[in-house]
Amino acid sequence: MREMIQAFPELLRTVKIDDRIIERAERESEKGLKGVCFLGMGGSSIAGEYVRSLLSETSPVPLISVRDYSIPRHVDKDWVVIAVSYSGNTEETLSAYREARKRSCTIFSVTTGGELKRVSDTSYVQLIPSGLQPRAALPMLLSVTLNLTQSFLGLDHTDFNEVSRQVALSKKEWVGNLMSPETLASKLNDSVPVFFAHGHLAPVAYRAKCQINENAKYTALSWEIPEANHNEIEASASYKRFSFLPIFLESHFENKRMDQRFSATRAILSSANGLVLKIGSRDRLEEMLSLTLYLDTVSLELADLNGVDSLSVDKISELKARLGG
Ligand code: PA5
Repeated sequence: MREMIQAFPELLRTVKIDDRIIERAERESEKGLKGVCFLGMGGSSIAGEYVRSLLSETSPVPLISVRDYSIPRHVDKDWVVIAVSYSGNTEETLSAYREARKRSCTIFSVTTGGELKRVSDTSYVQLIPSGLQPRAALPMLLSVTLNLTQSFLGLDHTDFNEVSRQVALSKKEWVGNLMSPETLASKLNDSVPVFFAHGHLAPVAYRAKCQINENAKYTALSWEIPEANHNEIEASASYKRFSFLPIFLESHFENKRMDQRFSATRAILSSANGLVLKIGSRDRLEEMLSLTLYLDTVSLELADLNGVDSLSVDKISELKARLGG
């Protein structure tokens, strides 16, 4: 896992999308589409969440994500679906894929193979290299999913060679701006990390929670601001009792009102000794990815501190086996 996380910046530029797939995606944009629906579970769902948070504000059509067996009724033949499954064998994603097929949606798949590759139209499937854990493949899944969605929406493609370079450089930002991943891991060991974030950093908070769950086999929570200001904030008095440690992911690209919200929230939760994570970046995508790389590394350090194997996902495998596949 350490090697996979170290390869994070490099993986952002590993996959070159097949030109024929891009042409097909651009054709969808010319035809006009009603919306884009991302399918995927667990580690494979994160790419769609990141794309949604980046493009929702500017997209003229809805971008939705489905982490379930079925797709909403309004997703019809004029929608584009992107099915993402690293293994290609995830039951819920395959079921939602079949439903999208019945509705005659245009479906693009992103996978290493498996059943998803088998059922997909060969000219609509972008294969990615196998041999990683699905959650460690996020940089590859994201680069493909974002560029594909940009084609559907008639937008310029993000240059992932440049993003990769900037994210690699962002490690230098850790020194001085953030505590080392080892130090943060030891601070949150024996507490429950509770990540708070807004907008494009909300899926980064959720990703951090998932990485801590899967890599360190450790519980964690994530909340979105402003919604958490209307419920979770009332629970702050119990944070000490449960050893909850609030961690605020703050952005350089927030408006003034949201900055005020974060500082007011921190003031109210002050007795819980929360931490702020903020990293210098040129834009929102780089900010998301730089924080993701940092927090992925924290999850690994936490796994090491607890002497657990960050690669294994025995419980997920057991559940899949119990369900018979
Ligand atoms: O990170 C993991 O290993 C899991 O969260 C998987 O991503 C999840 O079980 C879905 O599998 P896949 O990504 O192969 O569709």
